[in-house]
Amino acid sequence: MKKLLMLIPILFAFACQTKSGDETKDSVKGVKDPHSFAEPMKAVVKHLDLNIKVDFDTKIISGKASWTIENPAQGNEIVFDARNLKISKVTLGDDEKVTTFNLGDDTKFMGQALKVKIDEATTLVNIHYTTSVDAAAVQWLNPQQTAGKKYPFMFTQSQAILARTWIPCQDSPGIRFTYNATVAVPKDLLALMSAENPQQKSSEGIYTFKQPNAIPSYLMALAVGDIEFKAVDERTGVYAEPVTLKKAAYELADMGKMTTAAEKIYGPYKWGRYDVLVLPPSFPFGGMENPMLTFATPTIIAGDRSLVSLIAHELAHSWSGNLVTNANWNDFWLNEGFTTYFERRIVEDVYGKDEAKMQELLGYQGLQNLITEMGATNADTKLKANFEGRDPDEGVSDIAYEKGYALLRTIEEAVGREKFDIFLRGYFDSYAFKSVTTEVFLAYLEANLIKGDKALQSVINVDSWVYQPGLPTNSPPVSSAKFTSLDSLISQWQKTGDILVFDTKLSTNEALYLISHLPANITLKQMADLDRIFNFTASGNSEIQAAWYTLAVRMKYTPAYSNTETFLTEVGRRKFLMPLYKEMVKTSEGKEWAKKIYTRARPNYHSVAYNSIDEVLK
Ligand code: BES
Ligand code: ZN
Repeated sequence: MKKLLMLIPILFAFACQTKSGDETKDSVKGVKDPHSFAEPMKAVVKHLDLNIKVDFDTKIISGKASWTIENPAQGNEIVFDARNLKISKVTLGDDEKVTTFNLGDDTKFMGQALKVKIDEATTLVNIHYTTSVDAAAVQWLNPQQTAGKKYPFMFTQSQAILARTWIPCQDSPGIRFTYNATVAVPKDLLALMSAENPQQKSSEGIYTFKQPNAIPSYLMALAVGDIEFKAVDERTGVYAEPVTLKKAAYELADMGKMTTAAEKIYGPYKWGRYDVLVLPPSFPFGGMENPMLTFATPTIIAGDRSLVSLIAHELAHSWSGNLVTNANWNDFWLNEGFTTYFERRIVEDVYGKDEAKMQELLGYQGLQNLITEMGATNADTKLKANFEGRDPDEGVSDIAYEKGYALLRTIEEAVGREKFDIFLRGYFDSYAFKSVTTEVFLAYLEANLIKGDKALQSVINVDSWVYQPGLPTNSPPVSSAKFTSLDSLISQWQKTGDILVFDTKLSTNEALYLISHLPANITLKQMADLDRIFNFTASGNSEIQAAWYTLAVRMKYTPAYSNTETFLTEVGRRKFLMPLYKEMVKTSEGKEWAKKIYTRARPNYHSVAYNSIDEVLK
C-alpha cells in the first residue's frame, strides 16, 4: 500500500506532462512568469464573471470574482495572485459549495499566492473578496481633485502587476480570459471598463460589461466618475468629465483617421469600438492601452493637437500588446518597441514624414542620453530584460521603447518596408490573441524573414540588439531637416546674441528640440530672452512645460519657479514628475524645496507615481 501511495505523485506528474500541451496553449509553455504565483500548467482561468460594488465612502471595492477554469492536469488546486485583498469565502460551482483556500506569505510587490482547493470536475471558482483602502492599482479622487469639482472619481491602473490588488486573478500576461462584469456605483456616476461600454449614465447606477476577446489581466480596467461621451465618428469617441469633454473631443478629432491608417498597415482592428477616456490629471501615465477604451492623461490636450501621437501609440497597442502580448515582463520590449514603431508609422500616415522624423530623432536622442546615464555595459540596457526579484515597473524605460524601435527600424531598412510590412502582418495574424516570448519572435523572424541568409543576418545582427547591453551602431541614421535648420539658428544666436534670429513660431517638436539643445552654460539672460519670445514658462503645452521647468531648476531660473510648483501639484504623470524631482534634489536647497512641494502634492498622486518619487526624495 505504501508503495502504491508513493507512486501516485509520479503518475500525477506524468499526467501533467502528457496533458499540458493543447489545453494550456494560451499560456506560454515551459516559461515560468517570475512575477506571478499562478501555475497555469496545473489549472488555468478562461473566463471571468465579475460582480462588484464600488464604494466611495469607504474607498473599497467588494464583491465576487467567478472564474471559469480548466483543469487539464486533473489536480486539486488552482493558484491565483492576490495582494492586499481580504478573501472572505471561496466556493465552487453554480451552487457555491464552500471550499478551503490558503493565502501564502506576503511578498513585496508580488503579494500572496491564493491557493484554492478544487476537484477534477471543478469548472467554476467563486472568490468573495474586498479590496483594501490602499489598493495600489486604484486611485480615489475627492471632488476637489477633479476638473468639475463636484463629484468623486476613481480609476484603476493594472499594468504591470497591480490587477491583483483589485481582482484576485492569475496575474500573468501569458494567461488570457474573456470577461463579463456587473458594477454597482453611486447613482449619479458613470462606470467604464476595458470592454463594451455604456455611453450614458444608468438611472440605478448598475452597469454591465462584456469583453468577448480573451485578454491578459493587466488589461483589466475600471473608471467611475461624472463622465460623458462624445462621438468622433461611427466607431471612435471620447469620454471625459463634462467640463473637459469639448476640448478633449477637439484635440482627439483624428482618432478615426488614425484607426483607418493603422488598419491599412497591419490589418483590421479586431476590437469593435475604439474610445478614449480622458482622466483627471493625476493619471500616472501618458496613456494606457486598455482594450476598447484607452485611458489617457489630460496633459495631451495642448489645444493644437500637437501631442496626440500618444493616442496613435495606445491605438497601436491594439495590435502590438493587446493582440500579440509579451509572455512576461522580461519581454516587455515586444509590447513597447513594436508599438513605438507602429505609432510612428501611423503618425507618418496621418501627419506626414517630417512630423514622424522629428519624433524619431527626439526619441533616439533620449535613448542615447539614457544609455550614457545607465552605462553602456549595464545589463538593464538589454532588450531581453531580467526583472526577476524586482518590481517590473522598473523596466519602464526608453530601452524597451526606443531601443526596441531602433531594432525594428534596422530590420525595416535591411529588408525594405514592403517586405517588412508583410512580415509584421503575418506575425500579428499568426499570434493573434496569444502571448509570445522574445525567443518565439526571434524564431519567427528567422523562419519568415532571414531564412538562413547569412549576409542579412549580419547586417541586422539581431542577437546583439536583444542580448547585449548598449546601443549597436548599425541602426539607420536619424535626421530631420527641420531640426537641422533649427541647429543653425541656435548657433547663429550663440554667435550674435541676437534672439531675433528666431523669427518664426516654433512647433512643439521644435520647441522640445531647442530646449534640449541649449548650451550647457546658458545664461539667465538668454533664458529670459527665450522666455520672452516663446513664452515657455506660461506654456499650455505639458511637454514643453516639463522640459523647460527641468531646465529652469537646473539653471536656477527663478521666474519659472511658481509655475513649476503649480505643475508639480496639479499633474501626476510620472514621466514629467521624475526628471523634475531628480533635478531638484541635486542641491540641498532644491531638495528642501522639493520636499515642501511634495508634502502638498503627494496626496494628488497615484501610487505608481508616489512610490517612484518616494525613492528620489528619500
Ligand atoms: N502600456 C504603457 C504604459 C505602462 C507601461 C504602464 C508599463 C505600466 C507599465 C503605455 O502604452 C505607454 O507606453 N504610455 C506612454 C506613452 C507613450 C506615447 C510612450 C506614457 O505613459 O508615457
Ligand atoms: Zn505603450
